[in-house]
Amino acid sequence: MPAFIRDANGVLSVSGVSLADIAAQYGSPLYVYSGDGIRNDYRRFAGAVGPAGGRVHFALKANSALGVIALLAHEGAGADIVSGGELARALAAGIPASKIVFSGVGKAADEIAAALDAGIGQINAESPQEVEAISQIAASRGIKAPVALRVNVDVTPQTHAKISTGQRSTKFGVSTAQNEAANLYRQIAADPHISAAGLAVHIGSQITSLDPFEQAYRALLDFGTALRAEGLDVPVLDLGGGIGVDYEAGEACDFTDYGALVSRLFADSGFILGFEPGRSIMANNGVLLTRVIYVKDGDNKRFVIVDAAMNDLLRPTLYEAHHAIQTVQSPGPGIGPADIVGPVCETGDYLGQGRDMPQLGAGDALAVLSAGAYGAVMASSYNTRPPAGELLVMDGTCHVLRRQRTVAELLAEETVPDF
Ligand code: LLP
Repeated sequence: MPAFIRDANGVLSVSGVSLADIAAQYGSPLYVYSGDGIRNDYRRFAGAVGPAGGRVHFALKANSALGVIALLAHEGAGADIVSGGELARALAAGIPASKIVFSGVGKAADEIAAALDAGIGQINAESPQEVEAISQIAASRGIKAPVALRVNVDVTPQTHAKISTGQRSTKFGVSTAQNEAANLYRQIAADPHISAAGLAVHIGSQITSLDPFEQAYRALLDFGTALRAEGLDVPVLDLGGGIGVDYEAGEACDFTDYGALVSRLFADSGFILGFEPGRSIMANNGVLLTRVIYVKDGDNKRFVIVDAAMNDLLRPTLYEAHHAIQTVQSPGPGIGPADIVGPVCETGDYLGQGRDMPQLGAGDALAVLSAGAYGAVMASSYNTRPPAGELLVMDGTCHVLRRQRTVAELLAEETVPDF
């Protein structure tokens, strides 16, 4: 069942709380998350991969509100991070350092040092240069860094080009072709300042077929098995994230088939498995709540101008991503297509195009669905618009996770030279 459903009066609601009441009380634009949905979906994911012996590290990049991370930490989740900033967030939200995996192609020396000082569980290195940097920083501290190697197995994930990471043409991982990755892993295993933690793969995001996963996981398994046959220690195979969600229906993901695939491939393989889901836990557990400012009739088009914009939710502009948009109140009959646009001064500033919407007027609340992942985290203050705040509804109670900053706060971050 979707997390956001219509109540007996036809009003869109979450955990029994109407979005109309939330808009009236907390204002808009506002991200609203279902804490109950996040918890359920995390549990279902952990349950699906549990039989294969998985460790789940929530990919903070999808949603890094401290309240969301703390909720998942409480469920036992670890974290997949990609920056020193995300490290600080994971720790602040109560994720033990030992359950944190540090991914990304460009970890700076200060970020590596902070991760090692915290006692991080695993660093996924992506180049010989990075392995060298980690080794040196660990040596200077007299410790051994837990390093896994992210490999590139050259699999096409069949998703949007901007979020495809599995092919050799991308900047990600070390190629398993021509012994490049094998040699680097041998070097990792021999380095006195590193403990070899295993291998990692992540081929992309919003992947809606299991085939690319199967190809990549088989390649990883073969590669790990070959290294083991040489007598090298390869404890973990980190399978990354990437499970696609249904942006049309907004239904929660069914992880059964993914779990079955993983069990089938890795049963009795003796590897500890790692997972880095982000979108599949969060996307359909969040909406962007917005209200109509004006309805403007163009020459042959209706523009519904709302108080959320591309600075709040960039996905439609950046990836031509589709997000369903619904009225919060019980919808009247559609009166024809409309573009739902923000106030930002760019033609690319839209949340949805050509949507059959009912009669709308100023003040009407709309919900942009499936906005819980890669929404708030990608917001900016473009056009000096303070990005939307974030609110979590759990067991019928609203918790403000982050209020929208004021313009005065934005200006206060800056200094003007004395000309
Ligand atoms: N692990 C690594 C190493 C990653 O790079 C990512 C996502 C994940 C895990 C989580 O993948 P997920 O389960 O969320 O698919 N901003 C884009 C998505 C970028 C994904 C980047 N990497 C969007 O809005 O579609």
